[in-house]
Amino acid sequence: MCTTAVDFGLGLRPQHYEEIEARPGRVSWFEALSENYMEPGGNPLHWLEKLRRDYPIALHGVSLSVGSIDPLDTDYLASLKALAERIQPMWISDHLCFTGLRGINMHDLLPLPYTGEALDHVADRVLRVQDALGRRLVIENVSSYITYAASEMTEWEFIAELARRADCDLLLDVNNVYVSAFNHELDALSFLRGMPHDRVRQFHLAGHAHKGSHIIDTHDHPIVDGVWSLYREAVKLFGNVPTMIERDDNIPSYDELLAELDIARGIARETMSPVHATASAAS
Ligand SMILES: [Fe+2]
Repeated sequence: MCTTAVDFGLGLRPQHYEEIEARPGRVSWFEALSENYMEPGGNPLHWLEKLRRDYPIALHGVSLSVGSIDPLDTDYLASLKALAERIQPMWISDHLCFTGLRGINMHDLLPLPYTGEALDHVADRVLRVQDALGRRLVIENVSSYITYAASEMTEWEFIAELARRADCDLLLDVNNVYVSAFNHELDALSFLRGMPHDRVRQFHLAGHAHKGSHIIDTHDHPIVDGVWSLYREAVKLFGNVPTMIERDDNIPSYDELLAELDIARGIARETMSPVHATASAAS
């Protein structure tokens, strides 16, 4: 398994399979949506196994519902474990959320109340998922549109304590921080600074739809300047963390995504250069 040359990646989308194969070497790694590749023998799994020969793959799920009070879906976990055994991913990630209740899937990544009770619950569930998968899980912060009056701590305090208790790693979605910070009038930099440095395994970058009074996390637009600025701060804080762009709708050409990834490369290179580091130390 290759984990050393991992820097800038893209979400693996079917529209780009053939181009990725025809034009190798433009991207260091890909993130595959776990649920799209769980069916044995299907064409998607055929492509994933083919591309896996040339690229490290991270598996990223949306259905774990690790924060739910429904029982953990053991069939889903078994399918995910079987996929991981076939693909040998660098890591497996999913979101700090619940996706429904009493078996009803809301098809959304719903935030948790940030309470001690919820923390106990989700930390226990992450530990059980990790036992089932036989590996450490990588947990991602979600974007949100609601908060709970019952919350007793900030989202970043909750996530940091979850990582400590469950001994899991973190996927820091910079766009999600930007979206939630705007929607809830939070300080995005405080969020970043609240993430435990040694747990951040991956960054997500994405576009969104700004509606004036609120932002919707649509993943169907290019990344905006404010998210690039926040990414610059994340690189300052966490260094050379594997970074990828999530584009889930209105999928552009492969070249367009490669150009956007070049912006990320440029920001990381500039932010981590010795000149910048010297200037930062002097300021
Ligand atoms: Fe994300």
